[in-house]
Amino acid sequence: MSLATSRKDFPILTKHDLVYLDTAASSLTPQSVIDKMTEYYTDYPVNVHRGVYKLSYRATETYTKARENIARFINADFEETIFTRGASSALNLVALVYGRETLKPGDEIIVSELEHHSHVLPWQQVAKKTGATLIYVPLNKDGRITIENFKSVLTNQTKVVALTYISNVMGYITPLETIIRLAHEKGAIVSVDAAQAAPHMQIDVKKLDCDFLAFSGHKMFGPTGIGILYGKRALLDQMEPLEYGGDMNDNVDKFKGDWKDSPYKFETGTPPIAEAIGLSEAINYLETFGFDAIITHEHTLKTTAVKALESIDGVTVYNPSAETGIINFNLDGVHPHDVVSFFDEDHIALRAGHHCAQLLIKWLNVPATLRATFYIYNTEDDVKTFIDSVKRARAFFTDIGF
Ligand code: ALA
Repeated sequence: MSLATSRKDFPILTKHDLVYLDTAASSLTPQSVIDKMTEYYTDYPVNVHRGVYKLSYRATETYTKARENIARFINADFEETIFTRGASSALNLVALVYGRETLKPGDEIIVSELEHHSHVLPWQQVAKKTGATLIYVPLNKDGRITIENFKSVLTNQTKVVALTYISNVMGYITPLETIIRLAHEKGAIVSVDAAQAAPHMQIDVKKLDCDFLAFSGHKMFGPTGIGILYGKRALLDQMEPLEYGGDMNDNVDKFKGDWKDSPYKFETGTPPIAEAIGLSEAINYLETFGFDAIITHEHTLKTTAVKALESIDGVTVYNPSAETGIINFNLDGVHPHDVVSFFDEDHIALRAGHHCAQLLIKWLNVPATLRATFYIYNTEDDVKTFIDSVKRARAFFTDIGF
């Protein structure tokens, strides 16, 4: 399918005059995903793995096929593909189970200031509980994780490396293949936050050789309320469940119970059935474009926009070299929340604040930033409208004394 005609697939874009530049927070939803979820709620809206009647078989079969498709998408096995509430829950599961069960005083956990809060706060807690130490990879002058800087903190005590694949603020791609190889040479495992990567680039967990990897449905055309945790089978088999209850269990006696194998032991309660079916359909939709076309399109729009932004006095772009479609910038001297309100009047949606990555905002030494992100449905016209609005915002805030 062609990127140029994709806008018509998104009901919100056909109904509203909208320049949507906030995909890194949540992508828009195509009609095919809405239809697939509506079909579940309309035609077979029942529980899975429980009912012994035709509708429940249909729900279970469609739900199971959804997991098979999502596993295929990242080249994982079915048992290695766990449904969670989102990428945050997936990353928490790794820290709160694997981290708490295996780390001890003296062990080191490598993280970075590029991490989303979901990939730092859980490890802070685990470090407190276990006596392990958090170690930060120093970022280079552009704010990137480099192999050299990674090597400078990797030691024989490193047991866990928890890094983002693509920074949600800077849009940089972390050189993970080498980092993972180096970490494994030291016997450390690697947890990857792929929330910003899975929507934009092909992920092959076997080729990457990561130990855990997490992403969300809602950043890649899918619904909210579902994320994926991939884990290597051997590690998942060693891990205890995080939560206990229905469906994850096997035999239950008065004073003890046991549970099923992965993925079910990590998924208690009624699962996100409509969401899994929706995410699988989102993947089908995403794959019709091809990742090369997607990343080229986003990067081209971003490059045009950055060039234009850099020609406007009083605008700072913090990540001009990003390989993806994310621009992190500010209008000097104006709080980003004031600027986004101005953009909103022009029907342009983008994010202002710390982007759930306060460590990076502190590293940049600013109170907050603006973030514009491009995806398949954005066009050159969107870039023009956005740049025009930035120019008018700059003039407006200068006139009133900012
Ligand atoms: N983590 C999401 C973002 O980067 C919400 O905006």
